[in-house]
Amino acid sequence: MGRRKLGNTNPNQMIDPEPQADERRLEASLRPRSFGEYIGQKAVVEKLRVYVAAARKRNEALDHCLFSGPPGLGKTSLAHIIATELGVSVHVTSGPAIEKKGDLAGFLTNLSPGDVLFIDEIHRLNATAEEYLYPAMEDLVLDIALDAGPHGRTVRIDVPPFTLIGATTRTGLLTSPLRDRFQIQERLDFYSEDDLCKIIHRSADILGIETAKDGAREIARRARGTPRIANRLLRRLRDFAQVEADGRITRELADRSLHKLEIDALGLDPMDRRILLTIIELYGGGPVGVETIAASIGEERDTIEDVYEPFLLQLGFIQRTPRGRVATARAFEHFKRPPPKGQGQLL
Ligand SMILES: Nc1ncnc2c1ncn2[C@@H]1O[C@H](COP(=O)(O)OP(=O)(O)O)[C@@H](O)[C@H]1O
Ligand SMILES: [Mg+2]
Repeated sequence: MGRRKLGNTNPNQMIDPEPQADERRLEASLRPRSFGEYIGQKAVVEKLRVYVAAARKRNEALDHCLFSGPPGLGKTSLAHIIATELGVSVHVTSGPAIEKKGDLAGFLTNLSPGDVLFIDEIHRLNATAEEYLYPAMEDLVLDIALDAGPHGRTVRIDVPPFTLIGATTRTGLLTSPLRDRFQIQERLDFYSEDDLCKIIHRSADILGIETAKDGAREIARRARGTPRIANRLLRRLRDFAQVEADGRITRELADRSLHKLEIDALGLDPMDRRILLTIIELYGGGPVGVETIAASIGEERDTIEDVYEPFLLQLGFIQRTPRGRVATARAFEHFKRPPPKGQGQLL
């Protein structure tokens, strides 16, 4: 795979949304294990603590939860923490992994009362599986077809009370009947620099990486508000620190190394810059459709919308309009271009 090649040949390497191969093991070691260890997302965690405590008190399954937000913000971690805090087992699968409705039946019939079923990328569940899920979520029953055809019989079997936790990048990708069946819906936001600093220090402690305060701060500033990216940068910078310095990540080392990784002062990477410069240079600042942008830079539309765009929106560098994406005056300024006439006032 390209991303495993030596050298920084893949421009996406640093903000690749999915955990990279050997990163999974690392993520497991860095993953917060309890609400107490979960840094940031205060409002969300506060509510979840109450819901979990209430469910425990009543000895009931927690209501179904849907977590949304860009990759790497802690949705999977949260699902595991909830199961731990409930004192139940978590069964993990993902939308694309469930091909036949039998797959889902397998999971549902293996649950113990109160267990968590975590479905990652739940927006990619196929329609049949989805319809199978509805009665299970609502009435704790599964209708299993015994023989196909017009005279097919179905048996109805009971499912123990359980909690479905779904994770998705955008709730808008779910069908509304599915979305409506989640009583608890929370959106995770990008992390503040302070929270990312705490996460970086925690990870550095676990991994035994000597990190100066201002070194961690520099990583936090350039990690796109995303814990997974912060941890990834920390690990890359450890390499630079060990080879080019005395092993300690200082601000100076962080700055120099991030520059080599082509991550700019705001955390933008080469793909972010390509997206912005395409809108600015090729399309005069927009509006331009996301399909057109995708075709111009050879990236998947979904990746642009799920991975890159949320952060560019958050920075106030682009805006979504009915006619497409527009680069804001702030984006023009970042690239030291004069904004097109009339646009400076508008945006
Ligand atoms: N709130 C948090 N506190 C500490 N570390 C976090 C937090 N959220 C995420 N992380 C780190 O980021 C990694 C990626 O998080 P993950 O839960 O897999 O994100 P998602 O499922 O949203 O893509 C985790 O392994 C963990 O190390
Ligand atoms: Mg995940």
